Amino acid sequence: MDIVIANESHFKYAKTICDTIAESAKVRGTGIAQRTPEYIRKRLSNGNAVIALEGDAFAGFCYIEVWEHEKFVANSGLIVHPDFRKQGLAKKIKKRIFELSREKFPDAKIFGITTGLAVMKMNYELGYKPVTFSELTDDPEFWKGCQTCKNFDVLTRTEYKMCLCTGMLHDPKAKATSKVKKKPDSKGFKRLKSIKESLFLRRKKKKIE
Ligand SMILES: CC(C)(COP(=O)(O)OP(=O)(O)OC[C@H]1O[C@@H](n2cnc3c(N)ncnc32)[C@H](O)[C@@H]1OP(=O)(O)O)[C@@H](O)C(=O)NCCC(=O)NCCS
Repeated sequence: MDIVIANESHFKYAKTICDTIAESAKVRGTGIAQRTPEYIRKRLSNGNAVIALEGDAFAGFCYIEVWEHEKFVANSGLIVHPDFRKQGLAKKIKKRIFELSREKFPDAKIFGITTGLAVMKMNYELGYKPVTFSELTDDPEFWKGCQTCKNFDVLTRTEYKMCLCTGMLHDPKAKATSKVKKKPDSKGFKRLKSIKESLFLRRKKKKIE
């Protein structure tokens, strides 16, 4: 498996990446923002994305976006093709994109928003902390990216204060509070997700006969 910094030679994978994201969103039934091949091609060409390939086959992808003049960078769009899941690939891609973010933008706070337990666990292991949305970028262009997520109405209803996604942030200037690395609290993350779902998702009203 090769995990490399993407470039224009990878344009041929843009549609596969979009299709894999769309299929995963359908299967998962929860929020994943949709992307167009044109959007992905831009991310492939600017030196801020990582692609995993097994020979010629697409295996995984993730990209960096820069916000507020490099005050923040987001690691977004993590996707692993179903044929390559549960083998530790997402973890490797996440680590690579995190290292690339630190190399290219050493002073930036690195963040992501996610409903995925797997992603929360990986972020936590990289030193991210869960934070409120007010600690993330307030650049409206970032939040516009949520428009294609099926839970976008939740975000607008709460005036962009919260959503089903949890915000997680790595602040390079924050001092480590403890040298003993705690394990991610998977039960806690699951509970948080189910509380948010019961708070924010409108249930279908029962039909009154
Ligand atoms: C989420 C996703 C990227 C995981 O890819 P993967 O290569 O299978 O993940 P890994 O094998 O590297 O696993 C990393 C960790 O997450 C855990 N994990 C993987 N899938 C999981 C799932 N569906 N639920 C809970 N934990 C999961 C693994 O057990 C592992 O934890 P561990 O280190 O404690 O063992 C992949 O399933 C995917 O592309 N899903 C659809 C897109 C998506 O949800 N993207 C995230 C958008 S925010």
